[in-house]
Formats: sequence, C-alpha cells, structure tokens
Amino acid sequence: MSQNPVSSGTPADAALRVDAKVVVAEGVVALTLRHPTGRRLPDWAPGAHIDLVLPNGLTRQYSLCGDRWDAHSYRVGVLREPSGRGGSAYVHDELAVGDLVGVGGPRNNFPLVPSQKYLFVAGGIGITPLLPMIRQAELIGADWRLVYGGRTRTSMAFREELAAYGDRVVFLPRDERGLPDLPAYLAEATDAKVYVCGPGALLAAVEKCCADWAVGRLRTERFVPKDRGAPLRNEPFEVELARSGLAVTVNPGATVLDAVQAAGVNVLSSCRGGTCGTCETTVLAGAPDHRDSVLDDDERSAGDCMLICVSRSCSDRLVLDL
Ligand code: FES
Repeated sequence: MSQNPVSSGTPADAALRVDAKVVVAEGVVALTLRHPTGRRLPDWAPGAHIDLVLPNGLTRQYSLCGDRWDAHSYRVGVLREPSGRGGSAYVHDELAVGDLVGVGGPRNNFPLVPSQKYLFVAGGIGITPLLPMIRQAELIGADWRLVYGGRTRTSMAFREELAAYGDRVVFLPRDERGLPDLPAYLAEATDAKVYVCGPGALLAAVEKCCADWAVGRLRTERFVPKDRGAPLRNEPFEVELARSGLAVTVNPGATVLDAVQAAGVNVLSSCRGGTCGTCETTVLAGAPDHRDSVLDDDERSAGDCMLICVSRSCSDRLVLDL
C-alpha cells in the first residue's frame, strides 16, 4: 500500500531517522528508517504498512518492503505522484538523510496466509508489499511466481532484487510487452493463493477473472479506495458509543468518524479513505453499510467490525465499542 489520500493528525508511535534515501526506479525512492538510538523496531509481517508522519504535517501510508528479519530498520518505496497532495513530493524533494519522521504502526491488512503455492501480481509501485511476501514464500520453499507489470522497464522498482529469482519473475513493461494476459496467468495458478497489488484497473481486471473463485483465494490491496457507489441509506442514523455512554447522530454527508470525534471521543485514524484499516471499530449491534477497501467478504458478512471513516449504517442505529 502507498500513496493514500488525505490524512492528518495521526499520532506517531516513534520518531525514526532517515538512514538512506536511494532512487530505485524512475520516480521511485526507497527510504531506510532507523531509530535514532539504534533501538529495535516493532516486528512486522509481510503485507504490513506504516504511517509516515512527515515534517510538513502530512501523513501517508507505505508498505514495508525491506527484510522483516532485520529488527533495526524499515524500508519503504515512495512513488512520486504528480497529481498527489504533496506527500510524495515532500519525500522526493525535501526529505533528506538524517531527518526525523514520525512513524505509526506497523499494521497489516494484507497478511500472507500459509500456502504451498502463490501467484503474486504487481502493477507499478504495488510491488512493495509483495517483496517481503516473495522472500517469505522463498524461505518456506513454496512454489511461487510473480507477474510484475509497469509502464516502462526503468519505472519498475526493485528490478535488480527480483532478477535474482530468475524464471519465477515475469517482467512486463507495457511499452515492450503490452498488457499482461491475466486470464492466462490466473488459469495456470491452480491451487495457488493469489496476491495482487497495483492500480485500480489491474485489480478490477483480476477480480473480473476471479469472480467465481472460492472466497479467500484472491487477496488484493488498493492504493485508492474502491468505488462503492451511493450509500444504502440517505437518512441520518444514530450511533451509540457503548463505553462512553454517548449517542451521536450521523447526517448524510458526514462520517461516523467525524461525528464520534466531534463528541470528544478519540479514535485513531489515518487515511480517512477506507484503505488503511486504522479506524477499525467493533460493532456491538446494528448493520453496517461497509464502504471500505480493507475488510474481506467474511469480515463484511460477519458485521462485527467496521471502518468508521467511510462505512455507514443500513439500520437506524449502530452500537459501537467506543
Ligand atoms: S482511517 Fe484509514 S481506513 Fe479509516
């Protein structure tokens, strides 16, 4: 995950120092972060991301793409987004080796489940969460393959690292090879768990091919929120905060998160777009209208948690564990 939209005010769990900043492809830099005193950093697993709280006040989420067994450094890859709101531009143009950045997390909404066989599909900067998964798959001796598409060869980050895996990796620069033949790659992936990360068009194309697959075989991570269409209801609804003993009304156009925070209840949030998982909240009663891009189908139908920055209510009343 990376380059999520708006966010601000995320508390950082630690201040880490930029230890290295390296150009790893056209428009992509890799940052290595360490604790200023050399202290050990919290553990993480493949698929995890951190919040980067930048000195200019912006917060962005980036997938950890380094070595999970290195307890003293984190690595993230940052794509310059010309149409972004300034987070990636700051990282590329201002952030320097030696600077301190706030870091929240790690959190993991995209965990690697055990399997003997994996197909990884990456588009552009979507390679970042897949790099540690590939290392893990290699470590456990799983049968795996990576299909990695990008605009041009020079725009595809971490090519040298991946080239070391030989035939397991298929590089598909679009200007040389055209669009990947996804139906063919997916048809070959019998019995594999499939992990996909990249632009919305890639995810939509893979989801279309896999529409009749068993739940849980395909796992995706999004840079930008999935279009969920209009909310299921347009009327205001009530939210009862069980621990605080408060009740708030959520009007059309406002979010549950806004209403809860306006009532003075502190809830951690980050992307505010339903993609990072930070605001996940337990639902004690009522039927959520899930509008996030994080929960899987099982979690949605269970209805016992929701991402309150974007999700709403199907029922007149929700009771949250807040
Ligand atoms: S704050 Fe990111 S999912 Fe809600």
